[in-house]
Amino acid sequence: MDITRSEKAANLDFVLDQEGRSLLRFITCGSVDDGKSTLIGRLLYDANMIFDDQLTGLESDSVRYGTVGDDVDFALLLDGLEAEREQGITIDVAYRFFSTNKRRFVVADTPGHEEYTRNMVTGASTADLAVVLVDARRGVLQQTRRHTYICSLLGIRHMVLAVNKIDLVDYDEVLFNKIRADYESFSSALGFETLCAIPTSARYGENVATLSKRTGWYSGPTLLRHLETVVTERMQAESPFRFPVQYVSRPNASFRGFAGQVASGSISVGDPVVVAKSGQLSKVKTIVTFDEELATAVDGQGVTIVLEDQVEVSRGNMLVSPGARPHVTDQFQAHIVWFDANSLIPGRSYLLKTENDSTEATITALKYAIDINRFVQRAAKTLCMNEVGVCNISTQAPLAFDTYAENRATGNFILIDRLTNSTLGAGMIDHPLRRAQNIHWQSLEIGRALRAKLLRQSPTVIWFTGLSGSGKSTVANHLEKLLYSKGRYTYILDGDNIRHGLNRDLGFTDEDRVENIRRVAEVAKLMADAGLIVIVSFISPFRSERSLAREMMEDGEFIEVFVDTPLEECVRRDPKGLYRKALRGEIANFTGISSDYEPPQNPDLHLKTLTAGPDDLAMEISDWLYSNGRM
Ligand code: ADX
Repeated sequence: MDITRSEKAANLDFVLDQEGRSLLRFITCGSVDDGKSTLIGRLLYDANMIFDDQLTGLESDSVRYGTVGDDVDFALLLDGLEAEREQGITIDVAYRFFSTNKRRFVVADTPGHEEYTRNMVTGASTADLAVVLVDARRGVLQQTRRHTYICSLLGIRHMVLAVNKIDLVDYDEVLFNKIRADYESFSSALGFETLCAIPTSARYGENVATLSKRTGWYSGPTLLRHLETVVTERMQAESPFRFPVQYVSRPNASFRGFAGQVASGSISVGDPVVVAKSGQLSKVKTIVTFDEELATAVDGQGVTIVLEDQVEVSRGNMLVSPGARPHVTDQFQAHIVWFDANSLIPGRSYLLKTENDSTEATITALKYAIDINRFVQRAAKTLCMNEVGVCNISTQAPLAFDTYAENRATGNFILIDRLTNSTLGAGMIDHPLRRAQNIHWQSLEIGRALRAKLLRQSPTVIWFTGLSGSGKSTVANHLEKLLYSKGRYTYILDGDNIRHGLNRDLGFTDEDRVENIRRVAEVAKLMADAGLIVIVSFISPFRSERSLAREMMEDGEFIEVFVDTPLEECVRRDPKGLYRKALRGEIANFTGISSDYEPPQNPDLHLKTLTAGPDDLAMEISDWLYSNGRM
């Protein structure tokens, strides 16, 4: 009997061990206090899978932190970290490896607090089975539905409903049957292959590893027995060969191998392979690990593959079997589970990461959100924390992927905030979008350099940001006159004006402002491409979109100008009478009043309008352009 702790459950390959035992990966989910950690602790304890020294520690800890009086608190077995114990909730995914004489197990213990959907998704994406806990006193909750739905979305086909704390409802058969019926009635739509409902008391060990004498009416198996015997076929081993390349290994001039982990299928020396993104064909010459050469590598194994030919492969690419190639495109549809307190915003650019690749990505359309109560589509403009939706996504560079239904390892991704680096959501790819395959880049002969040369100027995007009434348009106007007088070809893109035409369909919600800026950045880019000096004058309240605009332009071509006027002064000037209305509550989402403005942290130019007039400020910009080689 063995139990080890490790963070890396995903690296365990699926093979029967010497005793012919298969591996079952499962997760536990439920609300806070449903007893997930206690259940797993009890499972390990009753199946005799705890080392003695751990038990001693457990007994003394229970006296200190335990919440169950004189009994041993099994939850403490899992809540390993001191900090977690003192907070009284589990805050991260904890993987545990253990085995009985029938099977080996990896369990991801996932926290049940609302905001920890992230951890649950992490655990669920590699699991075969989920144990959903319900407190017998509370029955099926909103969160039970959400977790069940997410399990189904992440490809789990086998569910266990543990109706826990059955001792607290006097082992009531009628109540158990009602909870089971409730659960079945909503989950049947999700088409699980097996669903086993078990009345349990994790605290007293009833029906966990041994059948309870108090639930004589229950004729099913114990939790342990069910986990040991349930048949879950693993698709991954039979899927076509997929090898996401993590890095190119070049220890010396004569060796060049591709390192990574086999995501699915298997590969042998001599097998043909294709480089997913380029379609180049080659053959496997050798398969090496750090201490031996292998004839074959299977799903889950980390190896370095050497090919017969000198083909171009880098991180982010995949070696695949020629007979079953993945999709390679930059547009697809996906289900997204959103974790973050800041909502998903269509049009905003995020960093998208797959197993081995990363690129910028934009949600081009949020098609609908999923109503967690009825599992039906619901119109939505954004996804809030813990919501699930279906989106079209466009990436900056093409990705090699499978649909999640075909392959869980190569069909998923996460979205990351480009500025804060935090993980915002997880995605499961539904299918590539065909339109992407029919649009190609048309190459033309007269390029931006030739046009700029003809106009004898350096195309530049001078991007003004600041509150409404801060003086952006006024300074922009002075600057344009100044540049015109020096014989420069310019164009002003002004927020109010563009909102009369191109962007007349947009309002002032966060989503609309993101789209407003995305579009004007595209226009500014075209104009710079045409050779112009473009002056953009938009509030552009969010850092994320301003930084997107910068990245869209050539190096050095984007100049961020912060027109810094304190809010009180804007309110005092109030050139259009809008602040007065906003303060009376007559305009919703007004920047600075009821909508955020994120000032630039490192603008190229910081203009303070309290101490200088528009002419001087225009001169300041023009001088800057001269001294920075833009004029
Ligand atoms: S942005 O936030 O999306 O960049 P934009 O620069 O296009 O805004 O438009 C701002 C102008 O729209 C303001 O100068 C003001 O005249 C007008 N306006 C009308 N309603 C609002 C509002 N709710 N918030 C800010 N500006 C508004």
